Amino acid sequence: RTLHLHNYNGYWLSTKILKSNLLIHAYFKSQPTDIFLASFMKSGTTWLKALVFSTLNRDRYTFSNHHLHNHSPHSIIPVIDAESYHITDFTNLSAPRLFSTHYPLPLLPACMSCAKLVYVCRDPKDVLVSKWLFMSKLRSKDLPPLSFDEAFELFCVGASEYGPFWEHVLSYWRASLENPDKILFLKYEEMKKEPEMVVRKLAAFLGKAVTVEEEEKGVVREIVKLCSFENLSNLEVNKTGVEKFGKVLDVEKRDFFRKGVIGDWKNYLSDEMKERIDGITDEKFKGSGLTFTTV
Ligand code: A3P
Repeated sequence: RTLHLHNYNGYWLSTKILKSNLLIHAYFKSQPTDIFLASFMKSGTTWLKALVFSTLNRDRYTFSNHHLHNHSPHSIIPVIDAESYHITDFTNLSAPRLFSTHYPLPLLPACMSCAKLVYVCRDPKDVLVSKWLFMSKLRSKDLPPLSFDEAFELFCVGASEYGPFWEHVLSYWRASLENPDKILFLKYEEMKKEPEMVVRKLAAFLGKAVTVEEEEKGVVREIVKLCSFENLSNLEVNKTGVEKFGKVLDVEKRDFFRKGVIGDWKNYLSDEMKERIDGITDEKFKGSGLTFTTV
């Protein structure tokens, strides 16, 4: 059932995503002004894309007539993992170029570490549920769907696209401690609880700290409102049609917006399953200084 995944340097990738990784290593040229948004899939990538784009471009658009109203975050910020993107075309984008990736840090070419990177992580229990529901839709096109029990088991042993989850998170966490000016580490849960604080953090990290004048005008609040689940998920551009990732992968745009809450895992995981995942998290993160405020 998992045969479509390859273990490549300790991480599980599909053939397509593995091919693309080889292409990136061969051809992608990073620029010092590049900004990468990295995440394990289903950890809040779409939201982070919207937040970073609107924070960086807050002088360029008015909030009532914003670029995000008719462009999906995924069409604004390309994912470099998609095999058939013409990687060399990226050279035409104006600086700072924004890219996203689900690759763990060890699978990114070394040159990318010169650029700035924002990582978002999320409680693995919510990631698992979100990913299973999302992948069930994708898998149904070419592979038989996995039951939740099967997906749970595979996730726990790490054999899940881009997994193991814990090593993925730790790769960026450790690097962010060593290099806080280059890597900003965020948590989905803190974004939900204190979105304004996160926008200020992002702005400062990206070299465009929020000014007193902007604070007085309520710019931070506007960004948070614009990028909220309620707002983005109700935009026509995010509701209808497909998102194309390279030539092969089409995803319904609305599938990137499901519930957008903390703790939906309670509707899917038994007590035993919760204990098992939390146990793995405690063990893997022990001594790293990284904790999750799990609910
Ligand atoms: P759920 O399936 O738990 O609802 P990604 O963007 O990395 O694919 O992650 C998708 C998850 O983020 C989904 O989680 C989705 O609903 C949630 N999400 C998307 N946009 C969001 C937003 N603006 N605010 C909060 N959560 C959001």
